[in-house]
Amino acid sequence: MLLNSQKPASLGFESLKFDHTLKLHSHPSRILASWSALDRTQKPNVAPNPIWGQSRLCRARGEHLITRVWSNVRNNSTAVETRVNEKNFERIYVQGGLSAKPLVVERIDKDENIGRGEESVVGSEAEKVNYENLEVSVGREESEGEKEAWRLLQDAIVTYCGSPVGTLAANDPGDKQPLNYDQVFIRDFVPSALAFLLKGEGEIVRNFLLHTLQLQSWEKTVDCYSPGQGLMPASFKVRSVPLDENKTEEVLDPDFGESAIGRVAPVDSGLWWIILLRAYGKITGDYALQERVDVQTGIKLILNLCLSDGFDMFPSLLVTDGSCMIDRRMGIHGHPLEIQALFYSALRSSREMLAADDGAKNWVRAINNRLSALSFHIREYYWLDMKKVNEIYRYKTEEYSTDATNKFNIYPEQIPHWLMDWIPEKGGYMIGNLQPAHMDFRFFTLGNLWSIISSLGTPKQNKSVLKLIESKWDDLMGHMPLKICYPALEYEEWRIITGSDPKNTPWSYHNGGSWPTLLWQFTLACIKMGRTDLATKAVDLAEKRLKLDRWPEYYDTRNGKFIGKQSRLYQTWTIAGFLTSKMLLENPETASRLFWDEDYDLLEICVCALSNSGRKKCSRGAARSQILV
Ligand code: GLC
Repeated sequence: MLLNSQKPASLGFESLKFDHTLKLHSHPSRILASWSALDRTQKPNVAPNPIWGQSRLCRARGEHLITRVWSNVRNNSTAVETRVNEKNFERIYVQGGLSAKPLVVERIDKDENIGRGEESVVGSEAEKVNYENLEVSVGREESEGEKEAWRLLQDAIVTYCGSPVGTLAANDPGDKQPLNYDQVFIRDFVPSALAFLLKGEGEIVRNFLLHTLQLQSWEKTVDCYSPGQGLMPASFKVRSVPLDENKTEEVLDPDFGESAIGRVAPVDSGLWWIILLRAYGKITGDYALQERVDVQTGIKLILNLCLSDGFDMFPSLLVTDGSCMIDRRMGIHGHPLEIQALFYSALRSSREMLAADDGAKNWVRAINNRLSALSFHIREYYWLDMKKVNEIYRYKTEEYSTDATNKFNIYPEQIPHWLMDWIPEKGGYMIGNLQPAHMDFRFFTLGNLWSIISSLGTPKQNKSVLKLIESKWDDLMGHMPLKICYPALEYEEWRIITGSDPKNTPWSYHNGGSWPTLLWQFTLACIKMGRTDLATKAVDLAEKRLKLDRWPEYYDTRNGKFIGKQSRLYQTWTIAGFLTSKMLLENPETASRLFWDEDYDLLEICVCALSNSGRKKCSRGAARSQILV
């Protein structure tokens, strides 16, 4: 453990009366954040059948419609109240019982203190954007691929109460069994959101952010157990439900993992939500959205889930298998890089967005401490290049002391044969996961790209990752960018680690398949590191096939030659990822608002903390040399 002051346990917030799902009454001017003291014992019994939950009025086409959110437990609670407990933590009591009537609220979160005349999340008719005619203004003739992509993206838009709120995961008219691909996934919407934002369309993104915020506080259960408050759903669906007299009403139906395959909570959803909220502000200049009291609370609820005390010895987040883009068993439980890189990015985003007031100071301190410890941890222990492989190869084991070289007791025998051949002389990458006596040496693309984008890695490491991708182009790009991970698990490993998953067979789907949606993140990383040549090459490669192949979700085989065996067609994040990549390349200045540079102050915090334990010299100079790992 590097620092022990990084937990927000000592954070104190003034009292406030809070009803997160319905409306906010700030008291007198502050907002709570900590939900960790939720008194679960006060929850009422869960009704076995779905019943109507929260209701609200939304405005569409000049009239009031009553819309409700579908939940099997929600109307068990009539009020959510916060208090300050002995430890100065807010405490939330869910009161009421099964007989409680659903609440009807006219506005989602109008807050008198904001004074910005916030309207309900659903814009009035006059505010609506015309989505009939989405055309890019790139100052050049669009390719046929781009034209089709915009049309398809427009067709994938989901509306709620007459306003756009997201995009379907896939929109294949020929697909008779869409499973949950007809839902709006939080992570899938990010490239759609960026495509809209880069094109000057902010409303759909704003609506998405506010509606998902409403879903965040949903009370959810799996077999009588509720995960923490603040969890964002993996996806949601707008359902049309019949009412009396041939009328219907629309409801939002979120999935927090309670219906998902494997029942895994989507840890990445909240992180993506925070990252997107920042991007929305950076691109539109509408910072009022992130300043709203309910939005500030949403950020803090997510942070609280991530920063709460546990049994951890590491600053990295401990999660179950499949809690991110790879949402099936793939041996990524523990501390997978993807989650750590998104966590780091979400922390950096939050630090920028938290309102600068007295109460925020504790949060910012907690965030800084965690950022600093996390970057040290990842830079030091996840980094792998030829030199490091050689070190591991010669590791002594069973070292018992605080200054052991082989801290995690890695047995050199676990270095896989493929790695000895594969690791290039120049370049390196962050390994996929680190556990006691276990390093997952697979290359996971999303985590490595976000390490670059967020500056979780050192400038030198970030450069080296792109160098590795360049030198391993055939393996990682092949016929279609971009391998989700490399290499695939095969034979006995596939059987044991995936649980014989027929979808994740070697070089298919999550197990070494190629996912074109990763292209926009690669493009962003390349722009940041001044390697647009690589991004252009990858985008050109994708453009040759995506339209022809009908925008598949993923490709199979070692070098991505074939459309994936169970791949959806007209997959929205493939389409949006392509458009976003194109626009980022054309607008590097805007792109630069989406990534982060090295933060030397953070390094100083960590180097100084180490120096207090007599392990390192404390100074900015030492911090600077520290980053040149
Ligand atoms: C698959 C992917 C997941 C994605 C979802 C919807 O489950 O693994 O990352 O969000 O499809 O496209």
